[in-house]
Amino acid sequence: MSMYRLVYYSRNHIASDPALYENAVNDILAKSRVNNARDDITGALLFNAGCFAQVLEGPLDKVEAAFERIQQDDRHGDVSLLGIDPVDQRSFPNWAMGFVGISDADAVRFAGIGSDSGFDPSRLDGEQIHMLLRDLTMEEETAFC
Ligand SMILES: Cc1cc2nc3c(=O)[nH]c(=O)nc-3n(C[C@H](O)[C@H](O)[C@H](O)COP(=O)(O)O)c2cc1C
Repeated sequence: MSMYRLVYYSRNHIASDPALYENAVNDILAKSRVNNARDDITGALLFNAGCFAQVLEGPLDKVEAAFERIQQDDRHGDVSLLGIDPVDQRSFPNWAMGFVGISDADAVRFAGIGSDSGFDPSRLDGEQIHMLLRDLTMEEETAFC
């Protein structure tokens, strides 16, 4: 079955209240992990106070259906699709939804992004976001093994 990778970024709408924020992020992750395991989707979600960036990979119909639901979610906004392309293999085979909060230091270290105004994925293209998430989740895997 052919596989697709979708990359988008969006503006975080839940960052204003720290208590709400943690619950909301936990809820998003829990829901994602259940739904994505069911739908044969893998990927990773990156966030900071300003933005989300996410990679979803799996069968085209499932990835599109998940993205439809995600776009309706008012916990974020200005959802910008950066790419949806066929791929030979998964970059996140072990992650129904890997998750990385990112500091500006990490962003600079991994992607060489200037951080005067904080990490801003709108300055990256889909492939740069994909590579950044792949490197960050790989580092997490290594740390836990
Ligand atoms: C930034 C962000 C990322 C999300 N990622 C996923 C995801 O990967 N998979 C998913 O099923 N839902 C994801 N969601 C949640 C969906 O927007 C939606 O709440 C959920 O899919 C609804 O599932 P349900 O119909 O089973 O209740 C995400 C939401 C946000 C705000």
